[in-house]
Formats: sequence, C-alpha cells, structure tokens
Amino acid sequence: MTNARDWSELEKQAHKMTQTSLRQLFAEQPGRAGDMTFELGPLHVDLSKNLIDERTLHTLVDVARDMGLEEYRSAMFNGEKINTTEKRAVLHTALRMPVERDFALEDQDVAADVHAVLGRLRDLARALRSGAWRGVTNHTIKHVVNIGIGGSDLGPAMAAQALRPYQTAGITPHFIANIDPNDLAGTLNGLDAESTLFVVASKTFTTSETLSNAHAAKRWLLSELTHAGVPAETEEEIRAITEKHFVAVSTNEEKVREFGIDPKNMFGFWDWVGGRYSVDSAIGLSLMAAIGPADFMEFLEGFYAVDDHFRTEPLEMNVPVLMGMLGVWYTDLLGYETHAVLPYNQDMARFPAYLQQLTMESNGKSVRLDGSPVDLPTGEIYWGEPGTNGQHAFFQLMHQGTRVVPADFIGFVNSHDDNIGADGETSMHDMLMSNFFAQTRVLAFGKTADELREEGVEEELIPHKVMPGNRPSTTIMAEKLRPRVLGALIALYEHITFVQGVIWGINSFDQWGVELGKKQANDLLPAVKGEERSDAGDSSTDSLIEYYRDLRE
Ligand code: F6P
Repeated sequence: MTNARDWSELEKQAHKMTQTSLRQLFAEQPGRAGDMTFELGPLHVDLSKNLIDERTLHTLVDVARDMGLEEYRSAMFNGEKINTTEKRAVLHTALRMPVERDFALEDQDVAADVHAVLGRLRDLARALRSGAWRGVTNHTIKHVVNIGIGGSDLGPAMAAQALRPYQTAGITPHFIANIDPNDLAGTLNGLDAESTLFVVASKTFTTSETLSNAHAAKRWLLSELTHAGVPAETEEEIRAITEKHFVAVSTNEEKVREFGIDPKNMFGFWDWVGGRYSVDSAIGLSLMAAIGPADFMEFLEGFYAVDDHFRTEPLEMNVPVLMGMLGVWYTDLLGYETHAVLPYNQDMARFPAYLQQLTMESNGKSVRLDGSPVDLPTGEIYWGEPGTNGQHAFFQLMHQGTRVVPADFIGFVNSHDDNIGADGETSMHDMLMSNFFAQTRVLAFGKTADELREEGVEEELIPHKVMPGNRPSTTIMAEKLRPRVLGALIALYEHITFVQGVIWGINSFDQWGVELGKKQANDLLPAVKGEERSDAGDSSTDSLIEYYRDLRE
C-alpha cells in the first residue's frame, strides 16, 4: 500500500494531527458535526469526533481510489473470484437482494436460488411458529437449539439476542458452539426434549465441535424420549425421531445424509458465502424461527440498504469507505493498536464478539494477495462491551491511559423497554443515553489543568484529574434497534472489513491460519487421552500434557 501516491501525504497529515487537538479542530470548523455526519439507510453516523480534518478525509479517499477500491468493489458485487486462494466468488451481498433483482453467475441463477432457499426457510419458520411442525410426541416446538461454531453460531446468536423483543411466538433460541462439554450440558439442562428442535449448522459439516455436539445432542434426545416412553431403538424409530427433531444447514449434502438428516430437512447455501458472512443465509434459520419470517426479511432489507449505498455512493460520501479508511488511518498512520465497539444497548452484548470474527478472521493476514509480506500492520483488534457496564470497567484506560483506543459508540433514540430511575421520575433510557453522549464528549475534549483549577481542585490532585481528551470516536445512532437497523449495522462492518482488506492488499475471505491448530489438536489427542506418551517435539507441550494426564480423573 505504501506505493499509493497519496500515502506520503497521509504521513504528513498524521504528523499534523499530532500537533492539533479535537478542541482546536472543532473551533476551526464551526459546522464540523454537520459536515462530517452521514445518513446510511436507517443509521445516522457522526464522524466529527475523529482525529481528521477535511483534507485527511480527502486524502484517505484518494488512497482508496489509488488502491483500486472501486474496481475491487465492482468485482465483489459482480461475483468475480476475489477469494483467490480458495478460487471463490464472494457474494454475501446476493443473499439480501430484493426478490425483483436478477443476478446470475455463469452456471447459477443466484437470485432464484437465494429466494428459493429463503422460501423454504420461511415455510419451516411458519410451521414451527404456528405449531404445524410438531415433535415426535405431537408437542409443539418451543426451543430451537442451533449447534454450530464461528460463523455458524456467532451471527444468529448475536442477532437473536439483539432482537430479543422480536421473539414473539414463544420459540426460544439456544446456541451450542464450544467443544467444551459444559456448553452442551448448560444449554440442554432443563430443556424439554419433546418440544426441542436442533438445527445443525455447519457450512462444511466436518467441523469437529459441531459434529461432536450434534451427536451428543442426538444421544440426549433419544435418551430423554426413551424416558418419556417413546421407543427409540430401531433404525426406523431413530429415523422418525430425527426427522421431527433435527434439521441441517449446510453446503454438504453427503455429510448431512451421513449424520442421519434427510436432505428434505436440509437448507443449503453456497461456497461463495463465507462463514463469517453467513448470518443472512440459511445459517440464520434459528433467528428466523425466533423472530419470524417478516422480521427476518426486514433484517435483510437493512443489509441491502447499506449494500446499495456502498455500491453506488461516491467514495467521498460512502460511509463504509470512510469508516474503513479511518481504521487504516488509526492502525497504520497513528499507530493505535485496538478498536473498541461500545453498543449502548444490553441486547447487543454479543455484537463485539460477532465483529471479532468478522473483522479479525478476515483481515488478520500478513501476506498480500501475491504472497509477498505486508509492510504495515493489518487487521484491527476489535473488542468491546455494552455501555454503561464498560464505563465501570475499562473506560478509565480509555480516558487517561497511555494508549489511545478509537471507539465506535452505538446508541438508539428509543428503547424497547424502559423504567424509572432512582429519582422516581427519570427514564432509565434517558439516563443511559446521557452517559452515551457524555462519554464521547469527555473522550474528545477532556478537561485541562486550568479548568480544574478554576473549579477549585487541589493543586496536588490536578495531574491525576486532568483528562487529556483528543481520543477519537465515531457515533452511530438509529431510531430503535429494529431488525432493519441490525442488518444495516452488520453490513456496515462487513464493508468496512472489505475496504481495509483492499487497502492492505490481502485476501479478506480465507482463514488458513486456523487450520494448523485444528490439525495439531488431532495429532495430540492420543497423548491427551493417555494412549501414548506425548512426543510433541517441545518440552513445554510434553510436560503440560504430562501434568494433565497425572491429574486426569
Ligand atoms: O475455524 C474457522 C471456521 O472455518 C470459520 O471460518 C467458520 O465460520 C467456522 O470454522 C465454522 O465452520 P463450519 O460452518 O464449516 O462448521
């Protein structure tokens, strides 16, 4: 990327930014908030508290243009095989195209296939919600348990929680991901097998965590039903039970069949949907069952609004482009190490974890598309917690620590639930949002020693109480956390991730770095099980496994 013509101009701008402050930038540009606030579908995005001026923004856009962002963007939307190491197109944007849009690849009518699967998902969701689909003992389904990991878990789990108020038909979604048996035990504990449907969600249907959990869930189901007096021994009996209590979401029909799920109960997607980009595919089945088809379709509309903006807006006004470039600016020019995402909404508690897979599995790469090493840091480190909880935990470091943490604050004008504060009259949502507004203000503008003196603060406490300010943030607001809004937020970060991948010249759509650990876990298993002595080739691993074996009950 350093060959981008305007990169050296950016370096000069970065130096300039170290000599100025957000106080000064706001003073110099009275209309700054208006100039740097954008509408993006249902989202209202204020970039003005970032460490930039108009010139920085223009230069960032020039760099993006130089690096071929517009061409890459077209290549993605057109279905070119931009995932070069896996020779795949990257077409999650096709998953949310409205029904009236046509889109085909050489050998596939993509739009028709997407809507055919959506139709089947809607039929199943309606059948579950209306009680037409029943368990083997004729009980209606009250619990849908998604078994999947990574992209086959985080999306539906995060979204089902975020859209809690839309869970209207008495179907509770549950999620089992971890190979840690406590996950399965904790989730199934207390569930009524007769009214439970399992969704085994795995793109490959070979993921060890998911297959182990799916087999364990099947054993649990058969044993619970046996206790309830249902015969569950012969192949025919097991098939009849599985048919009513297991469905699959996958691209691998053969493996689904091998597990014992009839392909008529399988919902497909395609190799051009990356796992971390799949919440809007059939992987969202558990979400759709919980919130209903109409709200799920509204969720997709939110994605589409942002796709359309990203595809058509000039780069200067293009919010995912500007936010993506801000991440590059902070990572590579200002040297900030991490990026906090702080939803002021408890239902969005899993949003930072969801973004961790989306952004870090995508952009945690050290080589460019041609295999040559990158020469600047890539891959923002995302983390975060809902406000106001985070304020009572790590905000101290954000306000006064030696590191600068650029942060995205996400907040909503209206709340699905409200209550009254300790004064007996103030809306708790208003209290939450006062915190939301106060935090970005304090981060940006801080408090100087002189201001503290004027307030009469004792001299020896002044260094401790000075708030340096100048800590950048982006504020994203929407009217209410509705399905459309959540879809728009996800698509925004998907495209931010894409923009950064283009600038860094990396492949954002493969994940080779997770493979070796999976293989070595398999290789070490015989020693872990005690079938052989550990001979890992390093004394640390060998002695840790020995410790494990010594204490293993
Ligand atoms: O381990 C990485 C990964 O391949 C993710 O990219 C993916 O989301 C997850 O595992 C689950 O994969 P699958 O859906 O094939 O089970």
